[in-house]
Amino acid sequence: MELIIRIPDDFHLHLRQNRTLELCAPLSAAGFARALIMPNTIPPITAPEDLRRYAEEIKNVAPNLSPLLTFKIVPGLDPEQVGRLKKAGAVAGKYYPAGATTNAEDGFSDIQAAFPLFHALQAEDMVLSIHGEDPEAPVFEREEAFLPQVQTIVDNFPSLRIVLEHLSCRASVEAVKSWPTRVGATITAHHLAYTVEDLLGGRLNASLFCKPVVKGRADQKALIEAAVSGGGRFFFGSDSAPHSRKAKNGGAAGAFTAPVALPLLAGVLSGAGRIDRLEDFCTRFGAEFYRLPLNKEKLSLRRESWTVPDVYEDIVPLCAGETLEWRVLRA
Ligand code: NCD
Ligand code: ZN
Repeated sequence: MELIIRIPDDFHLHLRQNRTLELCAPLSAAGFARALIMPNTIPPITAPEDLRRYAEEIKNVAPNLSPLLTFKIVPGLDPEQVGRLKKAGAVAGKYYPAGATTNAEDGFSDIQAAFPLFHALQAEDMVLSIHGEDPEAPVFEREEAFLPQVQTIVDNFPSLRIVLEHLSCRASVEAVKSWPTRVGATITAHHLAYTVEDLLGGRLNASLFCKPVVKGRADQKALIEAAVSGGGRFFFGSDSAPHSRKAKNGGAAGAFTAPVALPLLAGVLSGAGRIDRLEDFCTRFGAEFYRLPLNKEKLSLRRESWTVPDVYEDIVPLCAGETLEWRVLRA
């Protein structure tokens, strides 16, 4: 069986820098035309010159992956910079609660402190991208505990476009549906394909450890329903987040999924009897939310087994060494 679809976009991707960027960007380019690039590099992307340099670096190593750039909303950033960041190519600003995830030590501990920056994003008609977890809450409740803060943003910024990133639980799906359509959400392939049983139920699967952590069956079911619902506000973002083996051994959160995300997604949706929804979920809804034209190029998804490499240089991918049923071929 072969499925020919518009080539997908990845609306949440970590490419890092240096050798990791060189290694990972072409792996994303093999399946995606555009990707929203996360700004949590070291140091973070916070200035127009950072954006220009990063775009150039990405173009040099993966000329056929179009980066959609973001900047990190950090305490002390001058709201006046937001317009300049937009001119330099940023489409979104990313908000992280302090300590919520990898490289978020410089996030906010008080969301109100970020309001002047949210105002600037709203005035510039840019997107606010949110890592929605309250790091003070118990691990499995962190995302749900953060929803009231998103509600506050929705209420206080009546025309701000907001994306709640990498949904992991039913409560978030319900909350997003309750908000106006200017609020969207990304869903990853791994949160659709796996639960905490896969992470912790047998041997620890460190390559699946990410924030927010994968949850139980009921939450997974709600995410799958959202992905196949045809509701335009749920769209694909891989959250592919490479880490070296050493960093992973040290407990780093982030799943490197770029090489397996589309095969996993095809597996989940065909398992749910809704492979017909794959194309809109990963090629239409995100583009429409970000007001981008649909891609013209095609991608082939073939039901043909292949074995995922054990490692890409020093980065262990999700599903390392496993045989997957779907394979991706960029035309
Ligand atoms: C991401 C990373 O490694 O940069 N980690 C993760 O667990 N998802 C950051 C993020 O998106 O939370
Ligand atoms: Zn991420």
